[in-house]
Order: sequence, then structure tokens, then C-alpha cells
Amino acid sequence: MKELFRMDRKNYNPEGKVYRRPSSRAIIMKGGKVLLNYIAKYDCYEFPGGGLEAGETPEQALLREVAEETGQVIIPGSVREYGIVIRRQQDSKDPDGIFEQENYYYFAEAADKTVPRKPDTHEIEDGAEPVWIEALPAAVRRNRKAFERAGEPFIEREMRVMDMADEELRRRSWEKAEEAAIRSLGDADYAGMLSFVKSTLGEMQTENGIGAHKTEFGYTRYEHTKRVLGWAKRLYDATPDKAGLRYEDLMIAAIFHDVGRAFAAKSGGDHAKAGVPITRNWLLSNGYDPERTEYIASLVGFHSDKWRMPDPSIDRNLLMLMEADLLDDMGLLGIVMDTLIVRARKTEATFFDCYNHYERYTHPLQHECPVVTKEAKAFWEEKTALTDRFVEQYRRDILPGGENYIGYR
Ligand SMILES: [Fe+2]
Ligand SMILES: [Fe+2]
Repeated sequence: MKELFRMDRKNYNPEGKVYRRPSSRAIIMKGGKVLLNYIAKYDCYEFPGGGLEAGETPEQALLREVAEETGQVIIPGSVREYGIVIRRQQDSKDPDGIFEQENYYYFAEAADKTVPRKPDTHEIEDGAEPVWIEALPAAVRRNRKAFERAGEPFIEREMRVMDMADEELRRRSWEKAEEAAIRSLGDADYAGMLSFVKSTLGEMQTENGIGAHKTEFGYTRYEHTKRVLGWAKRLYDATPDKAGLRYEDLMIAAIFHDVGRAFAAKSGGDHAKAGVPITRNWLLSNGYDPERTEYIASLVGFHSDKWRMPDPSIDRNLLMLMEADLLDDMGLLGIVMDTLIVRARKTEATFFDCYNHYERYTHPLQHECPVVTKEAKAFWEEKTALTDRFVEQYRRDILPGGENYIGYR
């Protein structure tokens, strides 16, 4: 089992006798809620579980302890290893000894049926009570306060595991949501195309070793690609007149549109043109007919020519791809991105440096609306309305005299 972290007080004789008391704890989710034990004595939470009895495996102890403490019955097949936390400190009974505790954490699911609780005297004294809570971060906050008051190591341990587990659970639910969103695009092998693009973008390493799909401020081309794909779908869905639009071709072009970034340095810097042979090869070797392949590859090849946008004779799929490409990075995403850029360029950057950047670059750029269609303009305005309000309030927050901001430029 992987080690989550180690809590070593180093307050013991390293040669001392080691007393082990391994324990198992369960992270049980049901209908978006997590099962915890509330402990009245400390006003804190812990994951249900407890010490292994003689001859028990960690998993057997998990099932027994959870049933005794909470009355919930773990479905045996649902148990998945999460990680281990190791605690070492001076033993409370033998001052020359070392207390070592291996805490095994598992993800598990609970059955619908419950059994009567059998709390031990210790748990009754501490006022332990099982609760289903909505959000782990709230439990983390409560444990932090409890730890500040009581200084009990188990409170800190549980707090840290809750925080890590929450992140892990969020990551898993995002992955599931993303898989579902990709499936909902349609029958083409979009997942296969995306993983091809992801690995292609990851191949190239620039001189500074960052790689084409990740910049110094954490921008990844692949994430941009997925967002552009999302925008292309939204624009397509929002457009009532679908004459000339080819849904699947548009989705495929969105996925491949920036794949040439991986090799742009070698081909004179034009990433759109560099993407043409890559797109073509993938489509042909996956059974797409040559004519359609050339059409999709041409969308990729021309997507950078944004000056073509106002031309009324422009291909509608190309225009929609360009608009989807431009809609990403706008709005709040643009603000966050620019904040990361400011910080990457100047590690001692302040709120004021960020403000200057928004005022000089982000804000004017967001008002040069290059999109053409009614649908794209509506999205653009929705995004910029939010950033306008953001910049206005930010200015009021950080500048003395607020509305007189012009005097500070
Ligand atoms: Fe591009
Ligand atoms: Fe792009």
C-alpha cells in the first residue's frame, strides 16, 4: 500500500522497543456523502475504523470495526486500498519504548442494510456518533480548530487524510464526468483521438524542458484542446441554422486543431500547417475516406487564419472552429491565466501588478471582439460582462481612493 505521509515525533529512543498497534480506517461514500465518526469530546471527526485484533487482516478489521462503530455494513468486494499513514512517537506506557502505528486507509461502499451498533466503552466515553457529512472540507476545518485546542495527533492525522481523500475523490469524479462528456459527443472514436493528441503533444520537449503541452505558467495545450472541443459543441448546439455544418467533422477538427504544436518548432513555427499531416495520417489509418480526411485536415490547417473570419464566404465549419478557439481563454479563464503569467514572470508579483496587467492587456483584449456569428457574440458578451465587473470591483478593492484609479496609472 502506498504511503500517504508519516508522522514522526522523533521524541523516542531510536533503540527502544517498538510497540505496534496497526489499525484500519474506511472512507465510505454514499449519495455524495461521507461517513465519519463525530467525537464530542474533541468536537472533531475521524474516519470509522480501529485497531486490528490478533490474527485479523487489515480488511477484516475494517469490516468489523465499521459495523461495530457505525452499524454500516461494508460490501466486501467494494474495498479498495487508498494508502497508509505511519505514526511514530514515544510510547505512553514505556518511556523507553516506541509507539508505532500503521493506519491503513481504504475506500469502500456500504450496503443498504445496517446492523445494531456496538460501541466500546472508550467510544461511549468520548461521545462518538456516526454521521454522514456533505463535504469533507468542512470536517477538515473543524478538525484544524480541534487540533489547535487539543493537540491530539490523531486529529491532525485524520484532518490530513480527509484533505487528501477529498482531492482524490474530486479527481475521480471529474474523470468520470469527463468520460461521460466525451461519450456524449457521439459514436466516433473521440476518446481515441483525444488520447492520441494528448500523447503527441506530450512528446516534444522544448529547450527549457517544459514540453509543448505545458508552459511555464501551467498552460497545457491538451486542456485547451478539450475546452475548444466543448466550445465547438456548444456553438453547434446553439446555432439554429445548421446548413453546411458538419458536426462530426467539426468535433474532429477541434480535437486535432492544435496537435501541430508538438512539432511547430521543426516546421518553421506554423502549428496549424504542422497539424495537417498528423491529422491526415490518423484519419486515414483509422478508416476515414480520403475526401473527408482532406476536408477535416484543411480545417486544422486554416484555423490560425483568423483574418478570414469576417469574409462572408468563409466555410461555416472553419468559422465555428475559429470562434470556439477564441472563446477559450476569454472571460474568467483569461483572468486566471493572466494572473498565473504575471506570477510566473515575477515571483514577487503583487495584487497591484496583476491589476496593471488586467488593465493594460486582459481588459482591452476582451473588448476587441473578433467573433462573427450571433451565437458566438452572445457567449463572448456573457464572458466579458463578468470580467468587466471583476476588474471594476478589483480596482475598488486594491486602489486607494477607488474610483480615482486613473491617477495611479
Ligand atoms: Fe491554434
Ligand atoms: Fe487553439
